[in-house]
Amino acid sequence: MRAAFFTSNKQPLQVREIKKPKPVKDQVLVRLHNAALNHRDLWIHAEQNSPVPEGIVLGSDGSGIIENAGEDADPLLIGMEVVINPSLNWGNNPIVQGDSFKILGFPDAGTFSDYITISKKQVFEKPEHLSMLESAAVPLSGLTAYRALFSKARLRSKEKVLITGIGGGAALWAFQFALAYQARVYVTSGSDEKIQKAKSMGAINGFNYKDPEWTQKALKESGGFDIVIDSAGGPQFSQLPEIMVPGGRIAIFGRTAGNIPDLPTRLLYWKQISIHGTTMGTRDEFMSMLDLLESRNIKPVIDKVYPLENINEAIQRMESGDQFGKIILQIN
Ligand SMILES: NC(=O)c1ccc[n+]([C@@H]2O[C@H](COP(=O)([O-])OP(=O)(O)OC[C@H]3O[C@@H](n4cnc5c(N)ncnc54)[C@H](OP(=O)(O)O)[C@@H]3O)[C@@H](O)[C@H]2O)c1
Repeated sequence: MRAAFFTSNKQPLQVREIKKPKPVKDQVLVRLHNAALNHRDLWIHAEQNSPVPEGIVLGSDGSGIIENAGEDADPLLIGMEVVINPSLNWGNNPIVQGDSFKILGFPDAGTFSDYITISKKQVFEKPEHLSMLESAAVPLSGLTAYRALFSKARLRSKEKVLITGIGGGAALWAFQFALAYQARVYVTSGSDEKIQKAKSMGAINGFNYKDPEWTQKALKESGGFDIVIDSAGGPQFSQLPEIMVPGGRIAIFGRTAGNIPDLPTRLLYWKQISIHGTTMGTRDEFMSMLDLLESRNIKPVIDKVYPLENINEAIQRMESGDQFGKIILQIN
């Protein structure tokens, strides 16, 4: 079988033939149909080295068919179309992940591969309304957006929500979930074209974060936001408390724009702004997120599809920041 190996930072991934893995107790063997990229793959590619000389198979998102249900083979599982929950070993506390928490795709072998062996607990029946390709776009970014919006920021319908960097995979899920809850949703982007796309999907308006006056414009137009879902951090994060209503909530799960240099302390306490850091989510949140997709017939925004062999082109696409939505790999 083929698998895309990451060996050392900034080096192209190598697609190599390896032996098909065998499921051990409590695992299933999934023949992957599709995988999807996340910014996490870029961070690993830019910042890490493989802990083993042969390299690591990257990839957190995947969908496929169970081909082998392992030692205690449950015949009901064979042939099931599944999505994989990449949030591994969360632990017992829904507030925060435990010490054994890992994300699929580094250091454990991930989904950029023909096959994967994975614990039965991590596979879920594919949402009926989604194709295999669409299902691969769901897991990591959908889960993260779900927890950020509902468990952390506690969205109530009709609230005003700002989603930053709308071109991103996780941002677009948060956007679609907020729309499904009848929130009044605004976006930011570095691209006017992406703002137009978001408006055509239901955003009230959007602001280009490259415009130095975007926060003033956003405040004037919205009257202030109840919730901001941010995956960028960076210097602009410091301006967010100014454009929140009193009691506003910010959920942050990314650092695409780097560290946050400065925060207006007085505004934080006077407006009683809550800032929630969040990462991935629990098994329960994963199931609730799948339910939400199905019950509201929500489908992912797909940017481009690449064959597994062209994995390095897919990575370059994400590096360029030109994407609007999920970048998918076609595997089988
Ligand atoms: N902690 C977690 O569990 C978790 C889970 C998922 C993602 N993340 C993090 O969240 C971030 C996004 O991940 P992703 O997979 O959705 O990435 P992605 O699909 O590559 O999207 C990245 C997006 O960041 C936006 N962006 C770039 N510079 C920005 C800025 N200065 N201000 C606002 N937005 C900016 C861009 O939006 P425009 O193109 O619209 O300008 C771009 O589309 C990454 O940092 C990732 O590591 C963390």
